[in-house]
Amino acid sequence: MTYRDQIDISRLPRHVAVIMDGNGRWARRRGKERVFGHHQGVKAVRRVIEAAAEVGINYLTLYAFSTENWNRPDEEVSALMDLMVSTLSNETDSLIKNNIRLTVIGDTERLNPLVRKKLSDAIESTNKCNRMTLIIALSYSSRWEIINACKKIAGDVRDGKIDIDSINEELFSLNLTTGGIPDPELMIRTSGEKRISNYLLWQLAYAELYFTDKLWPDFGKEDFLKAILSFQKRERRFGLTSEQLVDNN
Ligand code: IPE
Ligand code: IPE
Ligand code: MG
Repeated sequence: MTYRDQIDISRLPRHVAVIMDGNGRWARRRGKERVFGHHQGVKAVRRVIEAAAEVGINYLTLYAFSTENWNRPDEEVSALMDLMVSTLSNETDSLIKNNIRLTVIGDTERLNPLVRKKLSDAIESTNKCNRMTLIIALSYSSRWEIINACKKIAGDVRDGKIDIDSINEELFSLNLTTGGIPDPELMIRTSGEKRISNYLLWQLAYAELYFTDKLWPDFGKEDFLKAILSFQKRERRFGLTSEQLVDNN
């Protein structure tokens, strides 16, 4: 039986978040420049978007560039920005055709004007699409967004818009860049690293974590489906006991 046949589509994670890692190592192992790995990585992005939409995932978040990645060598940063521009130019039509809405989370003010323009065009032209929402984390860091949420909430308290006692988990979540989007239930990281790297720290509180040694350019549809299957085999207890879960069903 294929992975697809084994997946129970009535129990899919609504939101899957991915840390697409390992492009540089993939290229270096082939004696190529790291940037070559980023180019190959775009093909994996396409495969995973297709797999997620085909199986029926509602929200897919892809970590494309972290705040910390700005500190990489200038040539790599500018190659990544160029790749973002060309990918947005080449792929927007296919997003529309597949009815996929694009959004972005992150400190987009730091992006150059061309990247910002391509992004806003792609966001605008897909804003009626409703099969799946694709969220690109770009110039993103979770601590940055948590601080921003604190500033917004503090400002609202100062201006008398909200009462300090109304600050709760829901209000805090709404002030994050992912406000209104359900928390990811599954987080996949490729490349063998087992860390979060400043990604969705608040939102991943109860996500199932899935790590694979595959480097991102090697990651395919089957790998994505395998991760979904692994998610479905786990018991999500949210602090309860197994017995309580059985009793509640
Ligand atoms: C992930 O691959 C892509 C980005 C962070 C932009 P890396 O570039 O981190 O590749 P490795 O981890 O060095 O192999
Ligand atoms: C995380 O990968 C960021 C992205 C995939 C965009 P990194 O390669 O930057 O993370 P670290 O440095 O291994 O933690
Ligand atoms: Mg890396």
